[in-house]
Amino acid sequence: MRLTINTFIPACKILFLLLCVINTTCGRQFPGNGYSLESFYPAEVQYEQIKKALSLLEPAPQWVPNWPDSSVKLGQVSGVAIDNTGQLLVFHRASNVWDENTFTLKNVYNGIGTEPIPHPTILVLNDTGELLDMWGQNMFYIPHGITVDHAGNVWTTDVALHQVFKFEAGKRNYSMVLGQRFEPGSNNYKFCKPSAVAVLKNGDFFVADGYCNHRIIKFAPDGTIILQWGTAKGDSPFVMNVPHALALAEERGLVLVADRERGRVAAFRADNGSYATAYRSWLIGGRLFSVAYSPVHGGRLYVVNGPGSMVPVRGYVIDFTTGKLIQTFAPDGDFSNPHDIVTSPSGDKVYVAELNPFKVYKFIDEVLGNETREEKANVHVKPTATIEVYGSPVPMGEEWDWWRGAAGGAGAAALLALAAFALLRARNTGRKGVTRRRWEYGQGEFKLRRLLERRRFTRVHSDDSDDEPAPMLPHHHPPANA
Ligand SMILES: *[C@@H]1O[C@H](CO)[C@@H](O)[C@H](O)[C@H]1NC(C)=O
Ligand SMILES: *[C@@H]1O[C@H](CO)[C@@H](O)[C@H](O)[C@H]1NC(C)=O
Ligand SMILES: *[C@@H]1O[C@H](CO)[C@@H](O)[C@H](O)[C@H]1NC(C)=O
Ligand SMILES: *[C@@H]1O[C@H](CO)[C@@H](O)[C@H](O)[C@H]1NC(C)=O
Repeated sequence: MRLTINTFIPACKILFLLLCVINTTCGRQFPGNGYSLESFYPAEVQYEQIKKALSLLEPAPQWVPNWPDSSVKLGQVSGVAIDNTGQLLVFHRASNVWDENTFTLKNVYNGIGTEPIPHPTILVLNDTGELLDMWGQNMFYIPHGITVDHAGNVWTTDVALHQVFKFEAGKRNYSMVLGQRFEPGSNNYKFCKPSAVAVLKNGDFFVADGYCNHRIIKFAPDGTIILQWGTAKGDSPFVMNVPHALALAEERGLVLVADRERGRVAAFRADNGSYATAYRSWLIGGRLFSVAYSPVHGGRLYVVNGPGSMVPVRGYVIDFTTGKLIQTFAPDGDFSNPHDIVTSPSGDKVYVAELNPFKVYKFIDEVLGNETREEKANVHVKPTATIEVYGSPVPMGEEWDWWRGAAGGAGAAALLALAAFALLRARNTGRKGVTRRRWEYGQGEFKLRRLLERRRFTRVHSDDSDDEPAPMLPHHHPPANA
């Protein structure tokens, strides 16, 4: 049949009706539904709308006020980690700060020749927020990331030194250091402001390198490079803009990257660096500072966003398999500059480091806490870790893409027909490797929204533009420091 405008438009109408039916039967509950964000709305209106949308989410986990003990003195808090006994390690800059005078334009620290921070930069707190131990004095200049591995070793990064340190469990001096002291670089021996470390059970580890190189490097336990990926420019899921924090979903075989200035959590296969999927949401905005992961209830992501993106600054919990936002949390009022987040393995305790004001916050999830206690009572046996080609999350950010299609105007109609065809075909051939598109009728005009659902674990989609940020909201990025 020859497609003329006379047959095409009625065909579109029929398809549209069909899609309305499909949409209402298959549409997902998403807290943003019903709040249409028009880009011509003033920022305050958008902000209020987003706030309203967020109020539909469960306010959890709950903030624990008056924690830690008031005797705990902090500088800029850059990192938090939980050790194997459940104690919290807080990494802070004590008397030093990172501001616009800290580095030269070539990323060289301006304080070379000065003494390192003379105060303990690592504080160990117990559950009730009391200071049990402190160390890490006379060593660091601008502390950034901290993590504790399965063997109890502590790993840190310092962006001024451009180095990564490993401290054996219980030791106060490092046993391994990677990178050249005060020398930024981008080769196999130098980092440039490395931000974070994550360590697999077998001892292999990842470094997020970081503020200038925008790459992830995987190392063997002895510090030799296994592989690396990530780039600052181009159009692929490997493009990152400040990989700022790392987490592992080890039972899924994934390493999770908080891709800060692209407002997403990107998941890559831990074994070979293949791109798996990404999560983001217009409710979270264009900046995402840190991510933590708990395998509880099929997997949950805990993230914090940042200021400058015209959205509330909060913590968010994302269901890993569906990609839906399920909870949001913040201290009384919102955060100002949350910088790092960590969760206990069962998700019952969550800690957030804040840069300014100098704070660390504790949140508890009573439901998960009770479940964990019950599980312990029943001597629940968890399956051992396996590398699994995991299910089909819906990457966050589905609300971000509609305007692109809508902007297409007439093109949208053609897309509509194509996508309906794809959708119908998809429903016949199963869901594997499928992009589902969904159209919503709202406020008297077509709006293209897309519901993305795909599995892409076996192939690197280097031409995938779905992961390009679509900055619908005005961005006012502070300098890429902090
Ligand atoms: C935390 O440490 C303080 C001081 O050592 C102690 O009194 C308190 O009982 C500890 N809390 C927990 C939960 O262990
Ligand atoms: C810490 O270890 C490094 C190298 O292993 C060594 O050069 C340095 O002197 C040690 N520092 C202290 C205070 O022992
Ligand atoms: C958790 O357990 C405690 C003690 O059994 C109980 O008081 C509390 O209501 C429970 N909380 C939730 C949210 O289930
Ligand atoms: C990573 O491993 C998966 C599964 O074996 C494979 O399909 C994929 O092509 C690999 N990617 C790379 C970059 O080697």
